[in-house]
Amino acid sequence: MGHRAAIVGAGHTRFGVLEPGPRALLRSAVSAAFASVDHGAAPRDVGEAFLASLGFGGWQIGNASAVLGEEAGAVGVPTTRVENACASGGFALRAAVRAIEAGARELVLVAGVEKMTDVASARRRYWLGVSGDTEWERLAGLTFAGVYGLIASHYLFEHRLGPEALAEVAVKNHENGTLNPNAHFQKRVSREEVLRSARVADPLGLFDCCPVSDGAAALLLAPADSARRYTDTPVYVDGLGAASDHLAVQERPELTRFEATRRAADEAFRGAGWDRSEVSFLEVHDCFTIAELLALEDLGFAGPGEAAALTLSGATRRTGRLPTNPDGGLKAKGHPIGATGVSQLYEVFLQLRRAAGARQVPQATRALAHNVGGAGATATVSLLSGG
Ligand code: COA
Repeated sequence: MGHRAAIVGAGHTRFGVLEPGPRALLRSAVSAAFASVDHGAAPRDVGEAFLASLGFGGWQIGNASAVLGEEAGAVGVPTTRVENACASGGFALRAAVRAIEAGARELVLVAGVEKMTDVASARRRYWLGVSGDTEWERLAGLTFAGVYGLIASHYLFEHRLGPEALAEVAVKNHENGTLNPNAHFQKRVSREEVLRSARVADPLGLFDCCPVSDGAAALLLAPADSARRYTDTPVYVDGLGAASDHLAVQERPELTRFEATRRAADEAFRGAGWDRSEVSFLEVHDCFTIAELLALEDLGFAGPGEAAALTLSGATRRTGRLPTNPDGGLKAKGHPIGATGVSQLYEVFLQLRRAAGARQVPQATRALAHNVGGAGATATVSLLSGG
């Protein structure tokens, strides 16, 4: 149905336990994004900027977007911070595309950053917890691992399944992470190691969880009709969907479906005029292994309980028929909250330009990126195509 905007440049730092602070991480990702623009772009070409960040650990809780203007060398342009927890990046992309649709003629910068590893573990639990429900979850001691553990045990019970498919998600995403030089973890794990790993929130063990990571990512967007001024291989945004749900999972009718993902996916596919069969690979929000199974179902690629068999069949491997998280996903690549949604789009940008090196998905022409805030309270779905 036509392109809504184009990504013409993208940059990424390494994800992991890193020395630099958030300002330096932002600077690296943004300068890499400028450097990636084939025909050249500079800070003076930027007309507006959006920063995705939770402000983990208390870093610049207010007015953080001005820092992005400074670190991008674009002081003076309007800057806005987008904070929807782990879905901040997906919502920042949506804000940028809407700015372009509202008439922005210059480049729009989207960056995400989080610095998480310099915070002691009790404070870390607090900063992760603030994105869940305060009254019924955080103050009762329920962590995100706890919420997803409840969802996972209900999923396995409801569909009479063992934990093998959860473990297979971890095995696959760790395998993909070995091909991604930016990934937090670049080591393989076996199904037995995953199943035997220390319990975090049963049935989820250590390898079912995303890690706590530092990192940043950035994108440069242009109106679709002027994208070729910047590059011969733009990546087009063709569909966008976004939705929200009750913050506390206890308010929802079902534990094992994320209504926000379903609504966002329907909106994105309707807007783009695409059929699900046209999608060549997925970047989904696998903060815990169960979340990847739910995503495959809520996005419409498997029926209830069927994502387990789909995963065990090998279909979601990088060389399978529905490659999912070729960059290692949140599980192995890492999950610096505000940076995650932007990082998923960075991977889409590389894959659709056939520039993903050893982890290139052979048939990558159309991609879906799915970003979730907390335990499903907010979600975005973006559909992108190669030029
Ligand atoms: N997957 C695989 N290995 C992990 C890991 C993970 N998620 N988290 C930590 N490790 C490894 C570390 O690299 C370290 O290995 P080493 O001993 O070889 O160096 C070891 O496990 C211990 O690391 P540590 O940082 O002490 O772990 P921890 O017990 O403090 O934290 C979790 C582990 C799972 C609790 C933590 O990663 C976590 O809270 N993850 C979820 C984050 C989250 O909720 N994000 C929001 C999602 S909605």
